[in-house]
Formats: sequence, C-alpha cells, structure tokens
Amino acid sequence: MDFEKQKRAPVYEALERLRRQRVVPFDVPGHKRGRGNPELVRLLGEQCVGIDVNSMKPLDNLCHPVSVILEAENLAADAFGAAHAFFMVGGTTSAVQSMILSACKAGQKLIVPRNVHKSVINALVLCGAVPVYVNPDVEPRIGIALGMELSQVEQAINENPDAVAVFVNNPTYYGICSDLRAIVKLAHAHGMQVLVDEAHGTHFYFQEKLPVTAMEAGADMAAVSMHKSGGSLTQSSLLLLNHSVNEGYVRQIINLTQTTSASYLLISSLDISRRNLALRGSESFAKVMGIAEYARTEINEIGGYYAYSSELCNGTSCFAFDVTKLSVYTREIGLAGIEVYDLLRDEYDIQIEFGDIGNILAYISIGDRMQDIERLVGALADIKRLYAKDNTGMLSLEYIPPKVVATPQEAFYADKEMLPLSQTAGRICSEFVMCYPPGIPILAPGEIITEDILQYIRYAKEKGCSMQGTEDPEIEHLNVLR
Ligand SMILES: Cc1ncc(COP(=O)(O)O)c(C=O)c1O
Repeated sequence: MDFEKQKRAPVYEALERLRRQRVVPFDVPGHKRGRGNPELVRLLGEQCVGIDVNSMKPLDNLCHPVSVILEAENLAADAFGAAHAFFMVGGTTSAVQSMILSACKAGQKLIVPRNVHKSVINALVLCGAVPVYVNPDVEPRIGIALGMELSQVEQAINENPDAVAVFVNNPTYYGICSDLRAIVKLAHAHGMQVLVDEAHGTHFYFQEKLPVTAMEAGADMAAVSMHKSGGSLTQSSLLLLNHSVNEGYVRQIINLTQTTSASYLLISSLDISRRNLALRGSESFAKVMGIAEYARTEINEIGGYYAYSSELCNGTSCFAFDVTKLSVYTREIGLAGIEVYDLLRDEYDIQIEFGDIGNILAYISIGDRMQDIERLVGALADIKRLYAKDNTGMLSLEYIPPKVVATPQEAFYADKEMLPLSQTAGRICSEFVMCYPPGIPILAPGEIITEDILQYIRYAKEKGCSMQGTEDPEIEHLNVLR
C-alpha cells in the first residue's frame, strides 16, 4: 500500500471543487441542492443535500469510470491489496450477486455453504446456476453453524468436478472463519474460482492480527461491506477482484442491474472511508479488538452468558475467529437471543445488531466508546437478574440441514399454490423463509418442508424474530410447488 497516495480522496476532492464553483444546476436531482425541498434540508443539512448531485464530467460516472471515480477505485484496490476494486451502491447484496453472475451461467454448478446470506441464493434464482450445498458443522454447545471444512469442500469438488466456483462466507456473522488459503489452493488446483462473501470482514484488511483476507488468500473475488465495519454510509460496498478476473466483463455484469444514478453521498463515503482505514485502520481496529475482549471478559463474569471467541477454533470448521465480534450465547439464562435483543432495546435503550434463537451479536466498531460497553454489560447483568428463567424446552439449533430437490430458479418460477403452514410438511417450498438479520434462509426455493423446519419457524415467530421472504406477509402460509 502506498501510504502517501492513500492520503488522497479523489471523489471527495472533486465534490469540494464543485461546491466552490457554485454551478447553476439545470440537471437532476430536482431538489436543486435542496432549494426545492426545505424539509429535506432541515433533516439532512445543507452540506449533505449540496453534494447530492448526478454524474457529470468533473465527477465521472460510476457505470464507466474514467477519471475521479476510477482514481478512487484504484486507491481502494491498493488499500485492499486487490487488482481492482468496484465501488458498489446497491449494498453488499449487489457485490455478492455480481460475483456470482460473473462466475456462473445457467446450469453451471457453484459449491456453496448453505448458511449463506439470502443474496447468494437470490443470485442463483436470477442466473439459474445450480448450488452444490456444503452443510456446515454445527457448534455442539451453542448451536451455530460453523465455517466450511476443507475436507467437505474436497468431497464436493471430487463429486462435482464440473463445478465452476467455490463460494465461501468468511467470516460468518458470528465471526467464524474457514481455512481460506487451503480452500483457494484446492479450488484453483481444480480450475475453480473462489468467491468470498466478506461482508463482515472489511477490518481484516487493516489489522494484521486479524484473520487472513480474501485477497491475501488468493481468492478471485470478494464482496466487502464497507458500510459495516469500514465506516462508510449504509448501502455502500466494495467488490474486489484479483488479477485472475476480467475486470471489463465484471463491470458489464455490474451494469446489468446497477442504477444509472449512483449517489455521490455513497461514492464519496467509500472514498473517505477507504482513506480513513488506510491511514488509521490498524490503530482503530487494535482498539476495537481491545474493547471487544474487555466486553467478553466482563460478560462472561456475569455468569450464565457465554461470550465466545477463539477457543471455538478447532483447526477445521472454525479455523480462525474474528475477535472484534461480540457474539453471546444466551440460552443458559432461559432467554432466546431475540428476547434479550428486545429487552435491551425496550428496557435499556440499547440497540444491538441481532438476536436469534440462542445468541445475540453486539457489533463493536471504530465508533464505540468504553462507557457504552459498560452500559451494555450492566444491562446484560440486569436482564439476567430480572428475567432469567428455566431453559427447559428451548430450541438451540440455528441450522437445520435442508433436503434439496430442485434448483432455486426452477422452484421459484414453478407452478405453485399457497397453503397454511400446517399443511406444507413434505411439500417443496418455492420461496424463502428467514429471520432478518442474519438473513440466512431457514427455507429456500427447492427445499422440502419438514416438521423440524416448521417447528423452527413457529418458535422463531413466537419468540419475536422478525421474519421475511414469503409472499404472505404474516408468514402463516407458504408457497409450495403444485
Ligand atoms: C454475510 C452477508 N452477506 C451479504 C450481506 C448483504 O449486505 P447488504 O445488506 O449490504 O446488502 C449481508 C447483510 O447483512 C450479510 O450478512
């Protein structure tokens, strides 16, 4: 990384130049620097609406960058050790889907863990590629799905030598990492590309004590959520490419679905955040690691909770752990993660990232302060004291291996009928069901609905998980194949 060059922020500088020029706008957006929408200015401020502008020559164009955006993307590539970086404005969803649409065509096989974010399976609905699912191991004590074991990938490759790529989710939402270097080596030896969903791993690029990054491990593409741990605005993301990938083709794929009116708020936030990470990331994330470690120790001292970390590492399905993640197992105090999540918000004004059946995740980042951690720890101690109960009968599994009988695309577009949940056991689902977050489908199109899965859905609803994916907004009915 060229430290001197990283001090530049070309898009931000171009926007500052534009602001000084006081150009008269006869182009969109129609709010004209906010003058036509005073309420919006009151909400967002003049600085913000003043740079909500459309593409123009001095600001370049995200669909085909040739000047300041290209320079900013090149700086991002340098900072992340990639051959090329695309600025993405459709969330990491757009980066994940562009990777898959670039690597796979209809009918081609993609080796993929089943515990992926819905954007992955949605991409398969769009492009007609066929998933070869690798079922993750489940951590016996806390019930969460682990990473991709090398031996499982090897078996999937041996059984499907015609697969075109291997998809890895690294780290998972909970912080679990797979043996990425070995997976890349194995996949490449069989002529397969490696695509990495690094939505939760932006910080790995800027702190050497954290697990290996996708680009370092030699993966071909990686989707990186700058808006998660990288500090940029919500919805902004990066797609990183290695030298093995044709950048021009990937740009064409991105442009199949990308807006032609990309927001300069998002683009400039990527530019500024990359600069911030390149110049100060190492120090910032060392601090984040310290805060998370402190929080874990304090939470484990309360008793009943289990804030887990690198001790989960087993050399295979949990090869490394992202110690910035503050994941806490709550079931021992008789409360589902989602119940603790709701209590924290409703009773203590603390908003955490998510709660599922047995865990909560508090996202620790460059914006956190020690006093906020103390508040979280205090609230968790209080919740245990006031609300802990017997945990008999509580579900613990976050992952139920699916029985897949049709591809996501076939099942999604098939002739279907809508049935009450109670009548769907044994039928093939044609839609998704998931708790969001984390957005990992409990059911995806093409999978058999089982009693176990129905029990999970009912339990998650009863505990208050926010669920989505079905045509029926109440999730009382499911679409199944006729
Ligand atoms: C693992 C994973 N991949 C992809 C995404 C999609 O990211 P976005 O919400 O930015 O579209 C998420 C979102 O939480 C995620 O958890």
